[in-house]
Amino acid sequence: MSLRTIWWDDENRAIGMIDQTLLPERLENIEVGSVEQLCEAILALRVRGAPALGAAGAYGVALAAARSEATDPVALLDEVQKAAGIIRAARPTAVNLSWGVDRVMQALNKIRESADSDEIRAAALAEAESIAEEDLAINRVLGDVGASLLEDGDVVLTHCNAGRLACVGWGTALGVIRSAVAEGKNTSVYSCETRPLHQGSRLTAWELSEDNIPVTLICDNMAGMVMRQGLVDKVIVGADRITKDAVFNKIGTYSHAVLAKAHGIPFYVAAPISTFDLSHKEKDVEIEERDADEIRRLGNKQLAPPEVKVYNPAFDATPLDLVTAIITERGIYRPLEMPDLE
Ligand code: MRU
Repeated sequence: MSLRTIWWDDENRAIGMIDQTLLPERLENIEVGSVEQLCEAILALRVRGAPALGAAGAYGVALAAARSEATDPVALLDEVQKAAGIIRAARPTAVNLSWGVDRVMQALNKIRESADSDEIRAAALAEAESIAEEDLAINRVLGDVGASLLEDGDVVLTHCNAGRLACVGWGTALGVIRSAVAEGKNTSVYSCETRPLHQGSRLTAWELSEDNIPVTLICDNMAGMVMRQGLVDKVIVGADRITKDAVFNKIGTYSHAVLAKAHGIPFYVAAPISTFDLSHKEKDVEIEERDADEIRRLGNKQLAPPEVKVYNPAFDATPLDLVTAIITERGIYRPLEMPDLE
């Protein structure tokens, strides 16, 4: 099944995307026609997952340029620069968001002395489209690279959603599983539900079921038990940012890494090079904290006293010594053996 998560709608000069908050009940697309709307969509997790956020950031800059009424190129670039700052700040942890925004801004800076406003608009869109196309191609390669680590019959535990919904398509952690299945390897998955926003149950379980890849849903606190029972061969997760010393990913990832180590199970991270941020260390990275009601409530249902104090970090950091290997489009890296990013 071919499914793109985010795209440019030329006719309406808007960003098209799947509204992931509606899954698994409804598969519906929305149209995003302003930077304000895009930031709302990012914050509400209508579009989410590091590589998809990279594409969203890039398309956001193209959208700001397309919708600007400025005819003077300097005024246009000024407006686009302001929009870029707003988009970059929408969510702090996944480095791909600012990476996508910055890549389009760099393309515009190269032509700023010579281009007219229509050329600036066209260049912004062309760079955003390249980022989206590259994401699809990169994930295919990354998936094939990672599939070499899986044996026929392997059972893989994953957390959150690092699938096609988290990217423009195919997926990173789930891309590895898709590639293994495409090679004819019998592969099945334990998907952790991923409290509090349930990306594992709403999205991962949905996309694997759509592709007929066997998936068993568990609550996050069951991971230790299934590992102890010998039901898991490998853990594969995605990443939002990889610094010199740690992998940032959805809250709960660190616990799975500790459990995997305790049970002698390989713990793999699958991520494109755009997720690497080797100029920083764990201590430099802001972990997004989200609304308390994501934990206190479930839709209309109150799950906890309305005023109870809550701590709701959206991500955690896993030190590299707990990571068996990082799977990228450029190959497989053992911990502390980071790729040359030039
Ligand atoms: O808050 P989310 O849903 O954007 O978090 C997503 C994750 O943590 C994913 O595991 C990560 O972005 C990798 S996506 C290939």
